Amino acid sequence: MVLKILLLISIVLQLSAAVIAIRLTRVTKYNLSWILITIALTVMALQRLAEFMQVGFGKEYMVAQDIVVWVGVLTSLCFAAGVFLIRKILNYISTVETKRRLYEKRILNAIIQTEERERQRFSKEIHDGLGPLLSSVKMSVSALDRMNTDPKQQAIIRNASVVVDEAVRCLKEVANNLNPHILMNFGLIRGLNNFINKVASFGGIKIRFDTNLKDERFDPNVEVILYRVVCEMINNTLKHARARQINLNIAYKNEEILLIFEDDGIGFEPEKAIDVPGGGMGLSNIVSRIGSIKGSVDIYSKPDCGTTITIKVNAKRI
Ligand SMILES: Nc1ncnc2c1ncn2[C@@H]1O[C@H](COP(=O)(O)OP(=O)(O)OP(=O)(O)O)[C@@H](O)[C@H]1O
Ligand SMILES: [Mg+2]
Repeated sequence: MVLKILLLISIVLQLSAAVIAIRLTRVTKYNLSWILITIALTVMALQRLAEFMQVGFGKEYMVAQDIVVWVGVLTSLCFAAGVFLIRKILNYISTVETKRRLYEKRILNAIIQTEERERQRFSKEIHDGLGPLLSSVKMSVSALDRMNTDPKQQAIIRNASVVVDEAVRCLKEVANNLNPHILMNFGLIRGLNNFINKVASFGGIKIRFDTNLKDERFDPNVEVILYRVVCEMINNTLKHARARQINLNIAYKNEEILLIFEDDGIGFEPEKAIDVPGGGMGLSNIVSRIGSIKGSVDIYSKPDCGTTITIKVNAKRI
């Protein structure tokens, strides 16, 4: 009785496994290994059925010995070949995964480059479109000032002139932030020095910048990405860290840029700060931007222990 029940259970299990194997055959686009495994499982289920009939209804249901041997051999062959061929599926899966990652990287690169192009276009529009308009307003206001002798009206005109000057200064700054011309014309180190000097001039924080680079130029994409990343790291320190000092070191050796950024601020828990719903975008942008140029980012920070961010990027001088 126990044997009959066990035989029934194994028939049901083997048929279910065969059904799953048929599904996997379809999913893997009729891969031979799953076809063979399906055949093996079905034949095994039939074998168990024959044994069940024999145990349940007597010797007249007994299958000839050589048929049993043939079926056994067929099952073993199907199983062995199927398992060997499964390696092909694993290779196929890893190829698909590699292609998917490459595709994602290309999309990310395209997004970053489009964003950068848009910034440049926008900066040009502001600089070349709004700039001349404000300059002609300034000229008109100056002419009015010269022509007018009424002291009250002159005060208003001079006030307007100061506001226009301020608007021109703001516009230049916005255009420069969108497309830093020192970075574009003189490279990463001069661009960063310019940004750091500007931040340091506001006071409140000391920034030490060491590098063995001078005016070397790299791929514009690498330069822009490293520039934006450093700006975001400095910005984060100013916004969140309550730090007194930032140390930035950029070393170039063996065609690799090693960038180490440190602040002595309040620190944070990176795993709770990156890719959190509703959280900021700065750190995840750093990771994806550096990923898009095949670099690596390591963010080390703990509450009350400051923050250290290490970035490595392969870059050839041009
Ligand atoms: N240098 C730092 N010191 C202390 N905390 C930091 C530092 N950098 C980042 N953080 C913490 O990590 C969080 C995420 O930073 P992230 O740059 O991603 O976003 P954000 O600065 O808040 O916003 P966004 O960059 O989008 O304007 C910050 O809110 C802050 O709590
Ligand atoms: Mg930020």
